[in-house]
Order: sequence, then C-alpha cells, then structure tokens
Amino acid sequence: MANRILAITGPTSGIGESTVKELANDYDIIILLCRNIDKGEHLKSLLIAEHKKLNVEVIQCDLSNLANVMKAATQILDQYPYIDCLINNAGVVSLTRQKTVDGFELMFGTNYLGHFLLTHILFESIMRSHDKQIIIVSSGAYKYAHIGHHNFKYPLRFNPIKSYSRSKLATLYFMQELYEQFHHRGLNVTAVHPGAVSTNLGKTKYNHRFGDLIYKMFDSMFISPREGAMSTIKVTKDKFLFNGAYVYEGKVTELENQGLNYYDRKRLIRETLEALQLDQFMYLSTN
Ligand SMILES: NC(=O)c1ccc[n+]([C@@H]2O[C@H](COP(=O)([O-])OP(=O)(O)OC[C@H]3O[C@@H](n4cnc5c(N)ncnc54)[C@H](OP(=O)(O)O)[C@@H]3O)[C@@H](O)[C@H]2O)c1
Repeated sequence: MANRILAITGPTSGIGESTVKELANDYDIIILLCRNIDKGEHLKSLLIAEHKKLNVEVIQCDLSNLANVMKAATQILDQYPYIDCLINNAGVVSLTRQKTVDGFELMFGTNYLGHFLLTHILFESIMRSHDKQIIIVSSGAYKYAHIGHHNFKYPLRFNPIKSYSRSKLATLYFMQELYEQFHHRGLNVTAVHPGAVSTNLGKTKYNHRFGDLIYKMFDSMFISPREGAMSTIKVTKDKFLFNGAYVYEGKVTELENQGLNYYDRKRLIRETLEALQLDQFMYLSTN
C-alpha cells in the first residue's frame, strides 16, 4: 500500500504540536514545516521515539517570507511524489504593527498570504494523492472584521484585533474558493475553528510572562491544545463529511454573514493573485 503523507505548518507549539502527536499513527510520513528548525528537530525526536515506523522530515519554512515558502515547497516537491493532507495550521498574533519580509502586515502576510502561496505550489501534488485533503486552521475571530479594500498595503493605522481577524477571514474565503473551484475534481477542503485554546499565540519574548499570566488568570475560559486539535483530527478522519465546511467543536457550523460575502471573496482572490504575481488560482499543469 502507498505511504500516507501529511504536511503541516506550525507543528512546534500549541494546537499544531498536539495535532501531529495525535495523527502520528495515521500517516507513514509526516513533513514538519517549521519556522524554527531546532524546535522541529526536537519534535521529530519525540515523534520517532514513540512511533518507530514513522518517517519524519523537518523542513524550514518561515511563512512571513515568500521566498522561503517557495524554497520549502520546492523541497517537498523534489522529495515527495504527492501529499495526502496539508494542514495550514501556523499562525501569529502581533499586538504591534509589523511587516513581513515582503512588506505586508505581519498577520495578513503570514496567516493568509504565506499559506496561500504554499498551497498554490503544493496543489498539484495534493491533487495527485489518494486523500486530496487541505485543512485550514482559521478562527472564530473572522466575525470581527470584513475584507474590504487595501488589504495588501501596509496599514497606516493598526488595530491588532481587526488585523488578526481579517487574516483569518481571508483564510476562510480561501477555503471557500478552493471548494468552489476544485471539489468536483476530488479536492477535500475544510476550515476549522479550534476554540479558545491555551497556547503560545500572541506571546513574544518581550511579553511571554504577561501572556502566561493572562492564560493562567482566564484558565477556565481556555481549552487545552489537545482539545483544540480535536476538530482538525476529526476532519482528517472524515474528509467527505466536512468537505467545504467550517468546523467548530467537531461539528459543521454555519458561518455568520461576515464569512459569506461572495464579492469580497472574489476580489480578495483576484488581488491575491496580483500581489503574488500568479497567473492562475492554484498550480495544476493540466489547467
Ligand atoms: N489559541 C487559540 O485560542 C486559537 C483560536 C483560534 C484559532 N487559532 C489558530 O490556531 C493556529 C495554531 O495556533 P496556536 O494557538 O497553537 O499558537 P502557537 O502555540 O503560538 O503556535 C503557532 C505555531 O505557528 C508557528 N508560526 C508562527 N509564525 C510563523 C511563521 N512566520 N512561519 C512559520 N510558522 C510560524 C509557530 O512557530 P514557533 O514554534 O517557531 O513559534 C508555532 O509552531 C493558528 O493558526 C491560530 O491562528 C488559535
């Protein structure tokens, strides 16, 4: 039987780490796309100590750097004939206005654009696999923003909640566009909201202690990373049931109006292709 291959971004902390540990029995090869290679190697050693037959590859991939994303994706294409499941899990919350290497606002550039490009380059390889699955870790925060115009310009005024929410709404629209254009060709694509989870999200080396304190103070409001990974795990096990859906607490969940604006979605995708200088939505040589 062919090897089952999983690739995941952001596996070195929080929800991603729990996801990988839970899925280690279900795949033969796991590709860890990590910003920090040392953390990736550490996770690899934990995984192979527990799962003797598992093959684990660590690939450096900083989603806030498009050239680096391209390099990581090309390395995967060179080494693996297909990918059964890509989980776009990595995410960043920044309380201050920051730029990616390519000049985009950090959260929009990382959470949305970096993953868009990664998926674009890996798309043919996903469509060649048995499972043909993409899972996008989005967020219920999509409700607090709308896409509007000027998403690709570095903002003059910065609101961290709106910027994070916008980046997550963009990932939801990305899921919907993937479903609309490719479900009839066998693609299985789902967005999940993990819930409010106690992780390292929003913490930096400057505010780490404060972040820990906040998570501790509001402990009862947060679930564990293992619980936060539950929807993603469930979706890997029933790709047809959740195809095209937004999943929360393991169940298909209706989107509120902010997540359903067709014209905003179409404009976002058009502008994304322009910003990334791509001439088609998702690379397929047979298109
Ligand atoms: N926690 C929540 O309550 C919550 C709620 C809704 C949605 N989410 C979403 O869940 C996902 C996982 O977040 P989490 O809560 O588990 O946070 P986390 O503990 O901070 O983990 C985030 C992961 O993303 C990686 N990452 C950050 N910036 C990156 C970059 N530029 N390039 C590549 N990887 C990068 C981190 O790498 P390092 O280990 O190197 O830092 C880490 O592995 C995110 O998409 C987040 O938006 C979380």
